[in-house]
Amino acid sequence: MVAERTFAEALKEAQDRITARADQILTGDETLNAAMSYAIRGGKMLRGFLVLESARLHGIAPAAALEAALAIECVHAYSLVHDDLPCMDDDDLRRGLPTVHKKWDEAMAVLAGDALQTLAFELLANPVLGPRALDLVRSLAQSSGKDGMVSGQMLDIAAETADAPLTLEQITKLQSRKTGCLIEWSATAGARLAGADTAPLQRYAAAIGLAFQIADDILDVEGDAAKVGKAVRKDADAGKATFVSLLGLEAAKERASELCEEACTSLSAYGKDAHTLMEAAHFIIARDS
Ligand code: IPE
Ligand code: IPE
Ligand code: MG
Ligand code: MG
Ligand code: MG
Repeated sequence: MVAERTFAEALKEAQDRITARADQILTGDETLNAAMSYAIRGGKMLRGFLVLESARLHGIAPAAALEAALAIECVHAYSLVHDDLPCMDDDDLRRGLPTVHKKWDEAMAVLAGDALQTLAFELLANPVLGPRALDLVRSLAQSSGKDGMVSGQMLDIAAETADAPLTLEQITKLQSRKTGCLIEWSATAGARLAGADTAPLQRYAAAIGLAFQIADDILDVEGDAAKVGKAVRKDADAGKATFVSLLGLEAAKERASELCEEACTSLSAYGKDAHTLMEAAHFIIARDS
């Protein structure tokens, strides 16, 4: 019997494949290519991993899955490059390295983000994805745009200057857009490409998406900047309402654990095949970076 792949092995393989595919594409001499490549590297590539795993569960050809995995990492990288700009969170450090606008300049960061976003849709339009690609294009646009990640970013920025701190309901809505939408797209991509029912993966993703943001908020309070690779203690300093500020640290951790259990239960229909995704849910709440 072939030994099952662990989550750590599957994540490492996802990182290697996605990075190699990015290297094939970002070959131009222009600084723009270097800045885009820099922005894609060094992250956990959890979203790309989710795409590859959900595709594997549905028997999608690896070459097609890889285009979708790189596409989501492009959108995620673009969101972070713009998120770090002085007009947004004004951060100098990302993944332990200078942010794109620090390494180059603000114009380069805006342009690299723009080009990463369009590259994502170019990748999804690769004929290797077949006729269901249109569903991925449409759903990624929706998950990223005015009702998705960008809308969450807007709510997040607005919250900084709001008269009263956000309520739990408001912060849950903000999170589901800011972080949840791209995670949901990633986890359901394989089912979409196969034309299969997306409901179990949707439930899994809703739970891990929320758990992911709670973990990010906990890391901001408890994390070590050197390990996390980005500035910490920023949320409290900015007076931001987060899951931790609203629930307290212990209750936030408990909520994250419950969500992890919920996520795993959602995958019962997939049986043992889904063990890597279940391990991913545990990783998300226990991560230190
Ligand atoms: C960080 O995302 C930003 C949030 C959406 C909270 P990740 O923690 O996935 O960042 P990388 O890609 O691994 O650096
Ligand atoms: C960023 O959220 C989320 C997106 C870029 C969509 P944060 O601002 O909390 O992420 P970090 O903490 O800078 O990684
Ligand atoms: Mg932000
Ligand atoms: Mg930020
Ligand atoms: Mg954060």
